[in-house]
Amino acid sequence: RRVDVLNGPNLGRLGVREPDVYGTATHADLVALCERVGAELGLAVTVRQTDAEYEMLGWLHEAADAGAAVVLNPAAWTHYSVAVRDACAMLTAPLVEVHLSNVHAREEFRRTSLVSPVATGVICGLGVEGYRLALTYLAGRLTAPQTP
Ligand code: DQA
Repeated sequence: RRVDVLNGPNLGRLGVREPDVYGTATHADLVALCERVGAELGLAVTVRQTDAEYEMLGWLHEAADAGAAVVLNPAAWTHYSVAVRDACAMLTAPLVEVHLSNVHAREEFRRTSLVSPVATGVICGLGVEGYRLALTYLAGRLTAPQTP
């Protein structure tokens, strides 16, 4: 019932970063939300954020080795990192890709995700609520592994 919530580059700047696009919640608010929801759902949730791709790759390898489910916001790496996608492909537990903004309603380059083809599912455009929904899905999925 371990879930690693992993956030990519610039997400540590939430709250001050383009609030019209990403909302006013800070990364600390997002951590608090995920920890609270995780506790309510009986999940062992840890939330981490990095601007360094090698560090993210290490966390994904760790999740793969632990058989942990992952909620991943790959941020800008979504659109171009083959390395992040390849690390995601090694995961054995469900992977939910989350974006705060509706990437399909923005610039054309954001409509391409290298991660989506190897994700279990994708949530975008619902702000921090997307993380709550991802954790809720995983809680159901991890207690009833026979259902899709
Ligand atoms: C994002 C969308 C990406 O296109 C962007 O590069 C981000 C954040 C989101 O959460 O909406 O950094 O992943």
